[in-house]
Order: sequence, then structure tokens, then C-alpha cells
Amino acid sequence: MIEKLSKYSGKEDSFEMFHQASLCTMEVILQCAFSGGEMSEQTKNEYVEAVKRIGILLVERNFNPLYVLFTAIYNLSPGGREFLRLCDFVHYTGGSIIKRRRQELERDPEILAEKKRLDFIDILLMARDEDGRGLTDLEIREEVDTFLFAGHDTTASTLSWALYSLAQHPHHQDKVREEVDQLLAGREEDTIQWEDLHKLPYLTMCLKEAMRLHSPVPFISRTVTEDTVIDGVHIPEGSYIGIHLYALHHNPDIWGDQHMEFDPNRFHPDRMKDMDSHAFIPFSAGQRNCIGQNFALNEEKVILARLLHKFTFDLDPARPVEKDMTVVMKTRDGMWMKVKSTGQTAD
Ligand code: HEM
Repeated sequence: MIEKLSKYSGKEDSFEMFHQASLCTMEVILQCAFSGGEMSEQTKNEYVEAVKRIGILLVERNFNPLYVLFTAIYNLSPGGREFLRLCDFVHYTGGSIIKRRRQELERDPEILAEKKRLDFIDILLMARDEDGRGLTDLEIREEVDTFLFAGHDTTASTLSWALYSLAQHPHHQDKVREEVDQLLAGREEDTIQWEDLHKLPYLTMCLKEAMRLHSPVPFISRTVTEDTVIDGVHIPEGSYIGIHLYALHHNPDIWGDQHMEFDPNRFHPDRMKDMDSHAFIPFSAGQRNCIGQNFALNEEKVILARLLHKFTFDLDPARPVEKDMTVVMKTRDGMWMKVKSTGQTAD
């Protein structure tokens, strides 16, 4: 990503941050969970675009009761046909990663013995129940799809919105950069090490505040499994309810009247200790909360630290950013940014 952004350094041309961030986070999840699962740049581009469109189509479907109630009718509509075509492509891509890894393991079963730790795809392929039965191809593919989607789109959104807020507020951006520069001062390489992750408190506060302000997953939904009363309202068993994380993160009773302002100090440890544990839940909470939470936060810290060490980020004033609340918080017409090199050369 650094290499790609370097081409724009100091130029008048702006670039679309969401796309660059998605390519980067896609590569990260492939490297970390899928044994480096190779994917050509073109497939990566197509995959990222397909997931983006699927998110938009899913939300659009909800605005037509006919499409919500009758899947067969939706499937015949132009949106439904596009949705099915894109799902086929996404499934095919996930399937290809599994097939390739299966073949590698069949060819050379010793690869696993040489690995220090099995990654996600190896665990799925090797899993056996007490009767020695493994997961079916479909079961494995469904897990792979969830991880590929959940593991890249959310992190790309978080990264983009964090950089957006930092570009809007140069003094916060400078403060984060000072913190990173101090951490890396005197080192030959500017890679972030495991033990560095807790030495970036201001960056972490900015990251959390960006996740509050922009809520990368703006809403989740649940089916109520038993009759429930919330604030005096009876919700019958079987109801489908939406839980609006974006609204929760903008509740003036909790965040004050300035809830639309980017204020990283809200997440100062002294202030956080009095906060209700459910006031800020960008990863959801309870039984089905995000299993990638720690991974995601660490990934964001590493990428942000390295990018801010190398570049200053500005928004392109000619291309205003407008939110688009799909399954993941996106923008209507992209997030166009400009970068300038900070002059740091080590890598
Ligand atoms: C900043 C990035 C991320 C955010 C904001 C985020 C947010 C969430 C949220 C809100 C949920 C709950 C969805 C629901 O209740 O319907 C969830 C679930 C999940 N996330 Fe994440 N996530 C992020 C990164 C990741 C990463 C990197 C991975 C994988 C490595 C991942 C894997 C999952 C999985 C597998 C689930 C489903 C868990 C279950 O249903 O039991 N997420 N995520």
C-alpha cells in the first residue's frame, strides 16, 4: 500500500482511499488466515468490488417489501439477478482458495509439520469429528466466505474513516505521527513489532473515536428467541430486530451534544473507566460478537502507524465525502485523498 500511495505523493491527483484500503486488508487476511492464498491483482479488485455491490444490493432489497417477503420475485428482479451473479463469483473465489490449499496439502502433507502454527484454512481442512469425518466442501466454503468478507471489508472501512478524520483534523494527525516517529526513532526498519502495539496510546484513542464516529458496522440484526420487554415495549418471540450501532454511538445522553465531533480524548483511559461497557460496541457484544476484534485492532494500528510515518493525508476538497450506510459504512462517491511524503525513508 505504501508503494502504491507513493506514486501519488506530492501530486495534484487524488486517489480513492476505500479501494486502496480494501486491497491492503484483503491481502492481510489472505496472508494471515489463508496460508498466503494467492489471488491475482485483478481477482482481488473484482472481489473487493463484488463485496461492495453485494452490500449495497442487500440494503436496497430492504426498501421493497415484495422483495423482502418473496425471494423468488427478488431473484427475478434486475437487482436480484445481479446479486446472485456476484454471489456466484464470490463463492467461486472462496472455493478456488480452498481447492488450491487442498491440492498443496495432498501433494506435500509435510508442509503442516514445518509450520509453527496452523492458520484458519488449514484448521478447516484438517478438522475431524469423533468419527473422523471432516467438514464438507460447502461447510468449509461458508466459513471461508465469512472470514474473507468479515476480515477485509470492515477493516478497510475502519482504516479509511480513521484516515478521513485525521485528514480533517491535522493537529490530531500530527500528534499521532509524533507518537509513531518517537517510537520508531533510531531504528533501521520502520516495521511495527508486537511489543510496540501498546505503545501507541494516542493512535489507539483516535482509532476508537473514528470507530465511534463512523461506526464501520452501522447496524446488526437479531431474531428474538423469547418474548422480551425493552423499555416497556413488548417484543414477541420470532421478531426480527435491528440494533443500530451508529445511533448508539451518537446517543447524546452518552456522548453529549458534540457527538458529531471527532474528539479522541473521549477514549482517554481516565474517561473510559466510567463508561458503560455497552456504550461503545463497534464489534457488537455478547455471544455472537466479532471473533476478529483483537486481530482487527492490531492490524489497524500497524497499518495506520506505518502510513502516518510515511505520509501526511489530506482530503481532496473538490470531491466531498458523503456516507453510505450499507452493511459496512461506505461512501456514495468514494473517499478521495492526497498524500505527501514525510521524508522518512527507512523500511
Ligand atoms: C474493524 C474491523 C471489524 C469490525 C468493526 C467488525 C465488526 C463485527 C461485528 C459488529 C460483528 C457482529 C455481527 C452481528 O452480530 O451480526 C462481527 C462478527 C464477526 N466478525 Fe468482525 N469485525 C471486524 C473485523 C473482523 C476480522 C478482521 C475478522 C476475521 C479475521 C472478523 C470476523 C468476524 C466473524 C467470523 C464474525 C461472526 C461471529 C459469529 O457470528 O459468531 N471480523 N464483526
